[in-house]
Amino acid sequence: MTINRRRFMNNAAAIAAAGFTAGMTASQKADAIEDEMARQLAKTRTLPWLCNVGEAGNGPGPFLQGTDPLLPNMPEKPTLLDFFERRWGENSQHLLQSANLALESGLDERQVLACLLHDIGNRFIRTDHGYWGAQLIEPYVDEEISWAIRYHQALRFFPDESVGYEYPEAYIGYFGEGYEPEPYIHAAYEYARNHRWYMTSRLITLNDLYSFDPNVEVTLDKFVDIIGRHFRTPEEGLGFDGSPVAHQWRTIIWPNNFL
Ligand SMILES: [Fe+2]
Ligand SMILES: [Fe+2]
Repeated sequence: MTINRRRFMNNAAAIAAAGFTAGMTASQKADAIEDEMARQLAKTRTLPWLCNVGEAGNGPGPFLQGTDPLLPNMPEKPTLLDFFERRWGENSQHLLQSANLALESGLDERQVLACLLHDIGNRFIRTDHGYWGAQLIEPYVDEEISWAIRYHQALRFFPDESVGYEYPEAYIGYFGEGYEPEPYIHAAYEYARNHRWYMTSRLITLNDLYSFDPNVEVTLDKFVDIIGRHFRTPEEGLGFDGSPVAHQWRTIIWPNNFL
């Protein structure tokens, strides 16, 4: 792993300095900086899904290009179901179980689809997954569905007692007590809270199963009809319809192409 050492040390020193008190000696301050550096290095860095698949070359040259031998083949005209089955596989359980909860709660089909697709951005890249996910599906679903997916990312951080949504326990473990999201997340929340589609997005967070049951396996079968009714699969297949997001779907098909 290569890191920019100077920047890393400066950052750790700045974080540690925020906790300095008036009576601290120079050596206590140095210890605090060292502790902070150890804490930062120990943090888990999640690589985007794209960085975790396929590393082998597959042709005469050294680099991977085209079909990745470590991944299932995709059909010529891939549908959403193909992406679930051949790219996201086991990683889909969180989505399937969240959608299942929505279905069992009697929510309408568009809402169930929103729950089914709410984290597909994570199957691409984790940072800003709500925004990436919304963008991926925008040309193919009702605007309200992609809007709700975009804003669930911000709403996750803010409780809403009116529907019984609390700040997720898990986040305290992930980010520490008293974590404050970035200002842009606060701004997105303020905007979404006053929007006419607020509840569609809020219901995603309510059905967002953080501690889903690893012993339950929900299959895609029960959602096939809902997808058929509310997701407009392009004739040419996802990735090949010339839409503004076609390249994103192609990136999931060939995640490690050299060029
Ligand atoms: Fe999410
Ligand atoms: Fe989720």
